[in-house]
Amino acid sequence: MSQNIENPKNETIDNSRRRMLIGTSAAIGGLGLAAAVMPFVKVFSPDNARAKAAAAPAIQDIGAIEAGAMITLKWMGQPVFVVHRTAEMLSNLAKNDKVLADPASKSSEQPDYAANDHRSSNPKYFVVKGVCTHLGCAPGYFPQVGAAELGSQSYGGFYCPCHGSKYDLAGRVYSGMPAPKNLPIPPYKIDGTILTVGEA
Ligand code: FES
Repeated sequence: MSQNIENPKNETIDNSRRRMLIGTSAAIGGLGLAAAVMPFVKVFSPDNARAKAAAAPAIQDIGAIEAGAMITLKWMGQPVFVVHRTAEMLSNLAKNDKVLADPASKSSEQPDYAANDHRSSNPKYFVVKGVCTHLGCAPGYFPQVGAAELGSQSYGGFYCPCHGSKYDLAGRVYSGMPAPKNLPIPPYKIDGTILTVGEA
């Protein structure tokens, strides 16, 4: 029910109109506050936190990887393989050259310090993105000489089950495969046995 009040100047104040004006001011104030708070909500949103976590370097002590074995890390939402290559694996690399599409990795993605025959900063540890350059499947690891997946003349490597692309133990793709390039090498550094993927 609307009540009117006499003020000292004998002017009549309509209470319902006054309530409506107060309500409108509060709503406008609320919008201003929401606009001011919005950037902070955006900065601290779970999506931003997730993106930041995904872009963070992946750090791993690789000293315990047995000779010939492989572990998988995750960096930028993608698998990164780390293989402890044996002396025999390394010496076999050169034997693959004649069956590879890009043996010198001239048209492939790697940091300068991995632009060499073994595609690594430390030949013992091979660090490579586990992402097939055809359509992005994760290749499997087959380190045995003559592994059935890679062929009896092979010296171990990676085989992509999606469309059959084959790579050697430096991630170099065989000729005639659906995959057009060697597996990409991410930026990384190794201090002692500590590997940091995402920082060079
Ligand atoms: Fe690997 Fe097609 S995605 S061969």
